[in-house]
Amino acid sequence: MRRTIFVGNWKMNMLISSSEKLVQELICASDFVGNFDIIVAPSFTSLSAVRTLLKGSRVQLAGQNMSSKAEGARTGEVSAAMLQDAGCDYVILGHSESRQYNSESDKLISKKVLLASEITLNVILCIGESFDEYNAVKTKEVLERQLLGCLEGVSEEKLINLSIAYEPIWAIGTGQTANPDQVQDVHYFLRSWCEKSYGKKMASGIRILYGGSVDSQCSSSLMLQPDIDGLLVGGASLKSKSFYDIINSSFETGD
Ligand code: 13P
Repeated sequence: MRRTIFVGNWKMNMLISSSEKLVQELICASDFVGNFDIIVAPSFTSLSAVRTLLKGSRVQLAGQNMSSKAEGARTGEVSAAMLQDAGCDYVILGHSESRQYNSESDKLISKKVLLASEITLNVILCIGESFDEYNAVKTKEVLERQLLGCLEGVSEEKLINLSIAYEPIWAIGTGQTANPDQVQDVHYFLRSWCEKSYGKKMASGIRILYGGSVDSQCSSSLMLQPDIDGLLVGGASLKSKSFYDIINSSFETGD
């Protein structure tokens, strides 16, 4: 049985004071009863303050990225061990914004996946196609290439800490959520790919999240799909109410 997961990716938003306010509201506004994980990914500079406030709550912490080196001369970078030291249980890797603006390649991302898995930092590996690739019906081809590249050299036993987030680039920050049936079709493909590559046990255990303009209007129809195990939320996670509404409405049955 896969545990449902909700991740709020705050991206490069909010100073320490607003991060503290948001996380306090998030904890207060809900009792969060249920068998699911909630994770927030603040900026690096807010991690420490948010961690302090999260103590004793069920909300966990994620880093938004990390270095491809374990330590040393990498000015401006943050290592996997530093994230863990700062209280992170998770790290988001391969986000399309990191690929686009920092020119991150699948090969580079695979080094990060390896480093994180070595210290059992849970990885949320983002993959997704562009609008042109989507229109050219190349989605599955692109995703397979990204998975092969990003997981190169990662042994099966290291995959236990891995989740995959399918984030079509054209859906991120555009208000254009992908159709739930289409997302299900893609997630089914990803799970089948995992089964083909790593076996049934790994495929049935791995959590596959969807991200891209998720709000409380679409969350329940997405979460009703059998292969969507969670949501990676950007803009709508910046307000406690909208993030909370997404989590709550995800458990509506649609009856
Ligand atoms: P939005 O929810 O703002 O579209 O962002 C999605 C995303 O990139 C989460 O990582």
